[in-house]
Amino acid sequence: MAQTSPLMNVMIAAARKAGRALARDFGEIENLQVSRKGPSDFVTSADIKAEKTLHEELAKARPGYGFVMEERGVVEGTDKTNRWLVDPLDGTTNFMHAIPHFAISIALEREGVLIAGVIYNVVRDELFWAEKGQGAYLNDRRLRVAARTDMRDALFATGTPFLGKPGHETSLKEIGAVIAKSAGIRRFGSAALDLAYVAAGRFDGYWERNLNVWDIAAGAVLVREAGGTVTEVDGGDFMKTGAILASNATLGPQLSKALHEG
Ligand code: IPD
Ligand code: CA
Ligand code: CA
Repeated sequence: MAQTSPLMNVMIAAARKAGRALARDFGEIENLQVSRKGPSDFVTSADIKAEKTLHEELAKARPGYGFVMEERGVVEGTDKTNRWLVDPLDGTTNFMHAIPHFAISIALEREGVLIAGVIYNVVRDELFWAEKGQGAYLNDRRLRVAARTDMRDALFATGTPFLGKPGHETSLKEIGAVIAKSAGIRRFGSAALDLAYVAAGRFDGYWERNLNVWDIAAGAVLVREAGGTVTEVDGGDFMKTGAILASNATLGPQLSKALHEG
């Protein structure tokens, strides 16, 4: 590993511990040895178990910090300046379908600023991590966003709202607009990994609306530290609206233009 700070060590240790149990549970799904209640209950319990481990480990290492967790919600801390943003399993649908593309996402926000992020793809043992001002890494390797500047060469990722959620029409329209101008689009089903892949230069850009802070906080730190840009799709604050656009400085505005002009 590259040199990691005490804070990063805490985050990585928590992610790895929760990751071990998630990997075992995923193995059961792959072998279809899920409980009689069916895969969706099984996934829910894997998810909650992973979140419990993350909560315990992070709270033990940094007593008093607050939490925003997907399953448990907000847990106020005595320390009002620090809060963890945690998604124990991002890519639930993939997990449930035995598709090995999901991750644990942990971010730390200090005085309203995102300062550290870890995204751990358990199955591939890919640990994406970044700390403000210290760069972004995949395991030992320093990350850099892609250098492509021409939309026609660029591969973009996005996400579409789940059944029953608003925004389908907008999403389809935007996908149509970007497909017509780019090398293509992927919809892999994990917002956290989509952002990590932008940081790693695998995707040239990514956008999605209607997300939650735990989906995007760690990824935003990674992309910025990899030299990329992170904005809100319509120009607001993505931590408030959950609409995020990540890319490099040249492609970002082009992607935004395509989304707004069709
Ligand atoms: C979901 C994934 C997906 C995105 C959804 C998220 P979950 O998170 O990140 O890619 O399109 O909007 O809710 O439910 O798997 O943690
Ligand atoms: Ca999520
Ligand atoms: Ca989740």
